[in-house]
Amino acid sequence: LPEPEEIFGLARLLLERADALPRDLEGRRVVVSAGGTREALDPVRFLGNRSSGKQGYAIARLAAQRGAQVTLIAGNTIGLEAPAAVEVVHVTSAEQLKVAVDKHSLGADAVIMAAAVADFRPVNVAASKIKKGAGEPNSIELAKTPDILAGLVQSRRDGHLLDTAIVGFAAETGDEHADVLTHARAKLARKGCDLLVVNAVGEGKAFEVDTNDGWLLGADGTEIALDHGSKALLASRVLDALGPLLR
Ligand code: CTP
Repeated sequence: LPEPEEIFGLARLLLERADALPRDLEGRRVVVSAGGTREALDPVRFLGNRSSGKQGYAIARLAAQRGAQVTLIAGNTIGLEAPAAVEVVHVTSAEQLKVAVDKHSLGADAVIMAAAVADFRPVNVAASKIKKGAGEPNSIELAKTPDILAGLVQSRRDGHLLDTAIVGFAAETGDEHADVLTHARAKLARKGCDLLVVNAVGEGKAFEVDTNDGWLLGADGTEIALDHGSKALLASRVLDALGPLLR
């Protein structure tokens, strides 16, 4: 017998389906990454970030409600409940996330990279806990992690993933909208994805909270402002913009 939470989740999914949600993703396979990665320093410490996973989970949940077969590749989150009828794959590091994304994106109609991937990892991972008595604090040597999103785009340039829409996220800081958008447009050009979801991040913005806002930038030059609202609402705007990109 499934756990009561799972029965509740599936019942809620069926009830919400009866609502006015479009079933535009029926027959589609969508891969979503969510949460933050953790890069180990020693058995008890890691380098991480403040991503809660809420936005990626909201997208995965809604994509399933709109009919898609969804695989959610989850890094560290604040202990979010798995969305009903979604396959969840748990990972920890950027390297593990890359392996899972590459595997599941084969043959997918869309890959949505909402995960906050660490850009660097410690070069040396201590086998036992680093002791403070070992002398003065020293520096941590870092190496770059693979850019998973750029790797997906490169793979398409090499003739794979030709039928897969690729969506990236951009977390940008900046006091002025103009700064955020300038950085984001450069990132869209650099990453080469089809759609970039741009969030201005900072104290009380985007990370950890239940609301979000920002812009959707399309590779074709389109720019859509996303009004402040729930992460579920932003998820629906992202999926609306994804529709025309599906092959
Ligand atoms: N991303 C990725 N692999 C990485 C780093 C980021 O796939 N090693 C993806 C994220 O999932 C997101 C997008 O790239 O979809 C942009 O992430 P962001 O952290 O905003 O950008 P960075 O590439 O890290 O660039 P910068 O730190 O210079 O802003």
